[in-house]
Amino acid sequence: KPAKLWGGRFAGGLHPIFDELNRSLPFDRRLVFQDIDGSVAWANGLAQAGVLNADEAAKLVSTLGEIRAELEKDPSPIDASRAEDVHSFIEETLVARVGDLGKKLHTGRSRNDQVATDLKLYLRGWLTDVQGEFQALQLSLVELASAHADAALPGYTHLQRAQPVTFGHQCLAYVEMLARDAERLRDAAGRMDACPLGSGALAGTAYPVDRDGLSRALGFARTTHNSLDAVSDRDHVLEIIFGCLTAMLHLSRLAEDWIFLASQESAVLRFGDTVSTGSSLMPQKRNPDALELLRGKVGRVHGALTTLVTTTKGLPLAYDKDLQEDKEALFDALDTTTACLRVAKLVAEDVVFDRTRALAATRVGYLDATDLADLMVGRGVPFREAHDRVGQAVNAAIEEGVELGELSAAARAAVMPELEGVDLAAELTTEAMLSRRDVIGGTAVERVRDEVAAWKKRLSSP
Ligand code: ARG
Repeated sequence: KPAKLWGGRFAGGLHPIFDELNRSLPFDRRLVFQDIDGSVAWANGLAQAGVLNADEAAKLVSTLGEIRAELEKDPSPIDASRAEDVHSFIEETLVARVGDLGKKLHTGRSRNDQVATDLKLYLRGWLTDVQGEFQALQLSLVELASAHADAALPGYTHLQRAQPVTFGHQCLAYVEMLARDAERLRDAAGRMDACPLGSGALAGTAYPVDRDGLSRALGFARTTHNSLDAVSDRDHVLEIIFGCLTAMLHLSRLAEDWIFLASQESAVLRFGDTVSTGSSLMPQKRNPDALELLRGKVGRVHGALTTLVTTTKGLPLAYDKDLQEDKEALFDALDTTTACLRVAKLVAEDVVFDRTRALAATRVGYLDATDLADLMVGRGVPFREAHDRVGQAVNAAIEEGVELGELSAAARAAVMPELEGVDLAAELTTEAMLSRRDVIGGTAVERVRDEVAAWKKRLSSP
């Protein structure tokens, strides 16, 4: 069994049951390279502060570099280790190679400022990578919007047919949401960008290290200015999980919309074989499992946020072991979000939209009622009055079993005499209804095309 980093006043080892609960190496192992990078910066910082001589620092730095290179090729020594956590693992590995010199590295440092630093370094990397995932998914949705800028389908409110929109317009709604999600995570990255290393266990380090120099060496924009806060701040973990959660919520809405559009009740979307599944019993089934998982995985990320909120609530200053519980929930939220962004992209790239069927659906359910009222407004009828009369027209149409444009002459004369002689069928085509929504953010085909062009430009400039 490896000796503990803190063994001085303890006889014997931990009870194996507690040791299992206490160990974080099984999950904080993913911070291994950040732990090495932080240790390199700390070794150099100690040398600058006169705690290590130049040769000692150089030996530590080169050995840490060797360990890094070896673990990049083969991480199996981590699996084999019984170390308490990733920090203990790296220190043990170092001491095994350079003996007493390795034991000097932890001078003036605590695992408390170390883990806070490692985690921020790891999150910085993830936040950079995930921007690419957002962008890739947005681009596929923009492509889909581009191909369907003029493809009408029923738009719904309350899941009742409301007014026609284009499928392109609907795709771009998700592009907007994802842009906010990506921005929220960029904001979180900016707020997190202060280096806690040199805060010690809680009170600051007792050696004259140049903390701003450490921050620069590790690529941070700023240095934290209160050691008590710095070692126990997990605001960024909360914020980033929340950023993941809004993205997941948005993906769940996309999933729900598309599952509905692919259902036999709607049947205007069909997903590719690579993201669809069958039934073990019912041979005819073609199930949208990929989208159901996008919808279902939200629970895990919401759970992670609840975990962190519960963990940090009422936590006394400064570091408490409760904070070790931040990592599993956080990592699961990050992994889930990345995986779902990727799967959503696969689905978007392989979806087939049935234009003919979707257009036909816009003609059923009186989606033209608002436009009919607007035609009456054009003839001087106050909107509220027009609304009321079109309501009567809808009732009459239901009774006659026709669309509004096909109402009998008697019904027309009774409820909308102002529109005598107007070719209603021509005024109430889906195309005409779309083209009237010609405002910023509206579903008119040209507006959607403009938005597609704007997004293409935005997403291709870095
Ligand atoms: N494994 C610990 C964590 O993840 C590292 C910090 C431990 N510090 C301590 N004083 N026990 O939070």
